[in-house]
Amino acid sequence: MQGPIIILGAGQAGVQIADSLRQENYTGRIILIGDEPYGPYQRPPLSKDFLAGTVTQDQLALRTPEMLAKKNIEFLPSTRAASVDLAARTVSLADGQALAFEGLAFATGCRARPLPVPGADLPGVFTLRGIDDTLRIAAALKTAQNVAVIGGGFIGLEIAATCRGFGKNVTVVETADRLMARAVSPVISQWFLEHHRKQGVRVVLEAKAVGIREQDGGTAGVELAGGEFIPADMVVIGIGIIQNSELAKEAGLGCKGGIVVDACARTSHPGVAAAGDCTVRLLPDGRSLALESVQNAMEQAKSAAAALMGRERPFTACPWFWSDQYEVKLQMAGLSAGYDRIVIRGSQEDGAFSAFYFRDGTMLGSDSVNQPKDHMATRRMLDKNLGPTPEQAADSAFNFQTLLK
Ligand code: APR
Repeated sequence: MQGPIIILGAGQAGVQIADSLRQENYTGRIILIGDEPYGPYQRPPLSKDFLAGTVTQDQLALRTPEMLAKKNIEFLPSTRAASVDLAARTVSLADGQALAFEGLAFATGCRARPLPVPGADLPGVFTLRGIDDTLRIAAALKTAQNVAVIGGGFIGLEIAATCRGFGKNVTVVETADRLMARAVSPVISQWFLEHHRKQGVRVVLEAKAVGIREQDGGTAGVELAGGEFIPADMVVIGIGIIQNSELAKEAGLGCKGGIVVDACARTSHPGVAAAGDCTVRLLPDGRSLALESVQNAMEQAKSAAAALMGRERPFTACPWFWSDQYEVKLQMAGLSAGYDRIVIRGSQEDGAFSAFYFRDGTMLGSDSVNQPKDHMATRRMLDKNLGPTPEQAADSAFNFQTLLK
């Protein structure tokens, strides 16, 4: 590959593709294009430490401009790609400029799903995806006392926890009958429901927000179907994401919500790779899998760089995720959908336990609450195609290392 290689999106996946290309000994031009004014930064702290003010904006940086320059990565901030012509091998920028490429990678990420109700565009109503969103939410929190959070998933609950840390009155509104239903089992949902309630958060399940009411040009609160009104000076919406795949779709790449990739981060077009939250992975059995996580961004980025260099590097590692709420670390390993048995290891009462998931006696994964050792052991076991029996997993005295040796 002579280059240039253009990378669209300068988040975790985009910057990792650039780095990995250099590690793959690619010496041609790398052009990294990002529409935000900032250099590549970490998103996970945006709803936690950065919102709480305990991590500074500088500390979020994944690479400084100097670090990028040192690796000869040409970084274009505040730059939007408007269209891609795969036949002509050009990317057109919003300002009309056209850039030629030999290799192309999409790492365009995702955006917050909007809530389609009247009042969702009022000042005082926020979503969280980037630094600017957190800065806006933090500014509003200075004067707000009552915060309504719509969506009891990762983002919503992390924001709820951070807002409780500021002593705000917090209400979480969730449509499902339990929290984080997309990602964890009922036993974990229940533990977090009780924990949030203990911390003083009001959680309303099976509740549908039908409107956000205005008062004096600001937000008065959230109207629920059924008539209840939740007074709130500000509202934060965290109801999931939409992949930024329009550009790829218009260019003719296969998309199914996200940009369809294989295990090696290759798209439907040769010479074009994609990585991170903008992708959906097609599994050999025809199902598709969207993993929104830092690990997925990093692993797919490494695969994408290899693919651009003509090599196959499948992402085979066990998927893992995490969420921090208050002092609680929730860590998820493996894909536990389809389990037929759950066993608990540790003490739910003490807030230090793991739920292990099995199907036909085979361990699929675990969710750990303040049990990082269980989480790490699960990952290592799954990576080696090993696993405990349900009885071993349930027995806190059983050491997983005996299986790993
Ligand atoms: N009203 C209330 N709740 C809703 C509504 C609605 N109209 N629509 C969806 N929800 C709920 C869902 O039931 C789910 O519990 O919102 C929650 C969204 O949770 P996630 O799917 O986890 O999405 P989110 O919390 O927005 O996180 C977005 O950022 O931190 C990353 O990995 C995280 O990929 C995730 C992404």
